[in-house]
Amino acid sequence: MLKPNLSEAKKRTNKEVLTKSFEYTKLDNLKELGSGKKYFIRTYGCQMNEHDTENIKAILENMSYVETDNYEEANLIILNTCAIRENVHNKVFGMLGRIKNLKENKDDVIAAVCGCMAQEEVVVNEILEKYNYLDLVFGTHNIHNLPRLLEKAVSKKEIEIEVISGEGSVLENLPVKRDSKFKAWVNVMLGCDKFCTYCIVPYTRGKQRSRNKDNIISEIKQLVEEGYSEVTLLGQNVNAYGKDLEGNYGLSNLLNDVAKTKIKRIRFVTSHPWDFTDDMIATIKSNDNIMPYIHLPVQSGSTKILKSMGRMYSKEEYMTLFNKIKSNINNVTITTDIIVGFPGETEEDFKETIDLVETCKFDSAFTFAFSARVGTPASKMKETVSDETKKRRLNELNEVVNKYAKIANDKYLGKTVSVLLEKESNKEGFLSGYTDTMKLVNVKASEEMLGQIVYVYINDVKTWSLNGEIRS
Ligand code: SAH
Ligand code: SF4
Ligand code: F3S
Repeated sequence: MLKPNLSEAKKRTNKEVLTKSFEYTKLDNLKELGSGKKYFIRTYGCQMNEHDTENIKAILENMSYVETDNYEEANLIILNTCAIRENVHNKVFGMLGRIKNLKENKDDVIAAVCGCMAQEEVVVNEILEKYNYLDLVFGTHNIHNLPRLLEKAVSKKEIEIEVISGEGSVLENLPVKRDSKFKAWVNVMLGCDKFCTYCIVPYTRGKQRSRNKDNIISEIKQLVEEGYSEVTLLGQNVNAYGKDLEGNYGLSNLLNDVAKTKIKRIRFVTSHPWDFTDDMIATIKSNDNIMPYIHLPVQSGSTKILKSMGRMYSKEEYMTLFNKIKSNINNVTITTDIIVGFPGETEEDFKETIDLVETCKFDSAFTFAFSARVGTPASKMKETVSDETKKRRLNELNEVVNKYAKIANDKYLGKTVSVLLEKESNKEGFLSGYTDTMKLVNVKASEEMLGQIVYVYINDVKTWSLNGEIRS
């Protein structure tokens, strides 16, 4: 049993980051382990978590497991969890209750928890105490060991726990079963060293480590060959790409090189304002295949709260960057993340956040109530905002955010925009996709048009989506 360890997870050293390659040969004697069996996997977290699920699916299918979307008929259930806020914990523990019922009524069910919650010492202790009917817990640093761990879990009665709390390595060559045939996630940077005081990610994902650029470029070249039109470069703090490598090669250089692969659309998330350079603005501006869409989390409009969050910029510095991006990149969309109810946030601080939203008029924003995470510095701060006040502030903020989301969308009425048609819409006979600026568009089109980039004339505007018709 290897349990997570918070103090190990907090450590940062200058030790060299190892790059490991997934060894398919290790699978050889396990290729039939899942023969005749079905797996169910549920994903609770961010894009990186979703991408991990794509790797897990491919590993399982290489072991002959077949996917099902009904957990009740699965022989293997995996919950790929997220630790960012308490409400995800509640959902996961609720699901564990249902799995208990299932296991009581059905033999031959293996249940596993992985992802960021598995990296939390408190969670694993709770699992051992109350949910020890589970078969397997594994972390974010050892997905590649899944075949061996499953073999153990299948043959043994007690719960198998393997969670590594180190700084992490870089894994190359993991198999992947991508959700989409048209757009793909590509990890460029793993972990995070920013240690924002509220955030658990640096403890669940290890230290900031960049993938070698040649590996990234060859993955993207292969995606182009396979017919993919869009890549999203992923990192918790993607702008810091390369800072942990030798030389001066950063995200701006990487974006330039990715642009040369001729992939039609390039996106990247998430940008921390601290590392957003002028070079990046110039690169986005000069490459038509880098999309004019930037997710730039601000978190708060109060410099006092930003300081306490450890964000390393003031409200004014954020505004300066925001304006620079807006005035330099034609037609750019900027979205953000905001937390309300951080310890010490007064009505005045909250008003500054509202004022910032009124000034920036974001195209949209993800808004959250502060949730104390064990092990983070903010969890030791005195909570000064009641749940009721957090809820009220969140509602007030959402009203302003929604107002500007609608105003931003209104500007599209009567315009023609390019859209990558990526999936069937909820409405029969309609497909949906996103504009270069990340606006969701629904359009009447036949299934054969999936994967195409088409021009759409927008004739109807909602707060969160646009409707239109194809113009050839
Ligand atoms: N790496 C990204 C954020 C990842 S988490 C970045 O730095 O921008 C996504 C969002 O969740 C954060 O931007 C923040 O707004 C929110 N969040 C993170 N920790 C939180 C917490 N403890 N309580 C509430 N919201 C939180
Ligand atoms: Fe968390 Fe901050 Fe790192 Fe984003 S930059 S993952 S909010 S610590
Ligand atoms: Fe959640 Fe882990 Fe992503 S905590 S937001 S799944 S990095």
